[in-house]
Amino acid sequence: MKNAHRALVVGNWKMNLDHVEAVHLSQQLVTILKNQNPQHTDVAVAPPFTDVRSVTSVFEAEKTSVSVYAQHVHPADAGAFTGEVSVGMLRRLNVASVLVGHSERRTLFGMTDDIVNATAKSATSNGLGIVLCVGESLVQRDDETYVAFIENQITSALNGIPVKYDDQIVIAYEPIWAIGTGRTASSEQVAEIMDAIRRCLKESGRSSLRVLYGGSVTSENSAELIENGRVDGFLVGGASLKAENFAQIVQSCDDCYDKQR
Ligand code: PGA
Repeated sequence: MKNAHRALVVGNWKMNLDHVEAVHLSQQLVTILKNQNPQHTDVAVAPPFTDVRSVTSVFEAEKTSVSVYAQHVHPADAGAFTGEVSVGMLRRLNVASVLVGHSERRTLFGMTDDIVNATAKSATSNGLGIVLCVGESLVQRDDETYVAFIENQITSALNGIPVKYDDQIVIAYEPIWAIGTGRTASSEQVAEIMDAIRRCLKESGRSSLRVLYGGSVTSENSAELIENGRVDGFLVGGASLKAENFAQIVQSCDDCYDKQR
């Protein structure tokens, strides 16, 4: 419940920045955010695995409250899964949460709803947070099945996860047609889905979860989206790779929460 009153902005760095570049960006971000001092907004970045240790070290040394998330995790505890990492490995590195079901994992790496559910279960029951990513393709948007599709993605992903883990769960609505395309959903389109998602969460007794929007969020459109899109924050890809842009997105959330929420 306590998180619902704070915005959350997560930077998804995807497969960008080696660990030296990641340290540089982290240091820039810390400097700007220390100055900015957001009061109502939680901030996190999800770097590639190879950068996690370095980025965490920067944030710990600077005593900043920026959290480090991971972009992916395997549901098993350990074993013959070449190329994968476990929840335990991430926890040992002080990773706070992990993106689960990002559309790039679903479409490019065969992540099915069942794997999303298994991953969400494994992460939450082992003390790791999740940012559950859902969102429709252009085909589903055009044939108007998108609301049911998104509700189904959420229900199947959270199936069997006790509500006692709700503090660890965040939902991110990311329409596939808006990711990395420069084509942002309008605040009306986002608000419609936010209402549908919150209705669906309420029906399953999980109304305290924060719901983010992601898909071509920039420092130019974030204020409008947070004010009129009824979102609790953002999952930001491209614009999170520039410290000033990312910090401006954080600022727009903080200003909005300061005024209204
Ligand atoms: P984008 O990516 O902001 O570059 O569209 C968002 C995401 O994929 O999380």
